[in-house]
Amino acid sequence: MILEAKGVTKYYGKKAALVDFSYAFHPGIYGLLGPNGAGKSTLMGVMTTNLKATAGELLLDGKNIREMGKEYRRYIGYMPQQQKLYDGFPFVRFLYYIAALKGIPRAEASAEIEKTVRAVNLWEAKDDPIGTYSGGMRQRALLAQAILGNPQIVIMDEPTVGLDPRERVNFRELVSSIAEDRIVIIATHIVSDLEKLASEIIFLNHGHIIESGTMEELLARYAETMEEPSIEKIYMQLEK
Ligand SMILES: Nc1ncnc2c1ncn2[C@@H]1O[C@H](COP(=O)(O)OP(=O)(O)OP(=O)(O)O)[C@@H](O)[C@H]1O
Ligand SMILES: [Mg+2]
Repeated sequence: MILEAKGVTKYYGKKAALVDFSYAFHPGIYGLLGPNGAGKSTLMGVMTTNLKATAGELLLDGKNIREMGKEYRRYIGYMPQQQKLYDGFPFVRFLYYIAALKGIPRAEASAEIEKTVRAVNLWEAKDDPIGTYSGGMRQRALLAQAILGNPQIVIMDEPTVGLDPRERVNFRELVSSIAEDRIVIIATHIVSDLEKLASEIIFLNHGHIIESGTMEELLARYAETMEEPSIEKIYMQLEK
């Protein structure tokens, strides 16, 4: 599987949010790192076809994702930055609703939902209305709806916002455990979310890729000019 972005550009009116973004995503965990306004959510919007690019295209195994329509939606699990959850619904009912939207057969839905709810540590609270959930529980509920049905491409926009340190560790373990044979893309401005997790990092600012590579490549690239290079230090230097 390969997801290729080719010259993806997005303008909001005259404002350039993403400019000529080209990158090839293979199965693995990708960190999209950049400050507020860098264009992370815009890129994710285009990748999930929720936003239409001004120019450029995305190809999944050579097929334009916009032309794939529904078929592409089945590949995608998306955890948006803004929480949109049905507060009156017990969480488990919400997941049955999402399962139906994703076209998961009813016979498989129960087992799939149980697996997912347990994975995000919400089993005890599964029958409670989502409106009663804490911020961290809501975040895990959002993660659950994204990974339900084993999508091949998982796109997460600032997934650890509001998680306490314990849940951050759980999140990293969960992402590692689902990452095999999948493309996982995590947008964040928190470097520690990606360290020991992401195999490749793309630094984005003002809509442009300003640096990218595997962890090893990046650390090697800065080894001569930086004392004990780390992703955090590289990020700080690039933001200067
Ligand atoms: N609907 C919109 N209309 C106009 N401008 C927008 C819109 N959405 C985003 N922008 C602008 O596009 C740029 C990129 O925004 P985007 O939300 O993609 O950044 P981000 O990296 O996700 O930031 P954050 O870390 O704050 O979530 C910003 O300058 C933002 O102001
Ligand atoms: Mg954003």
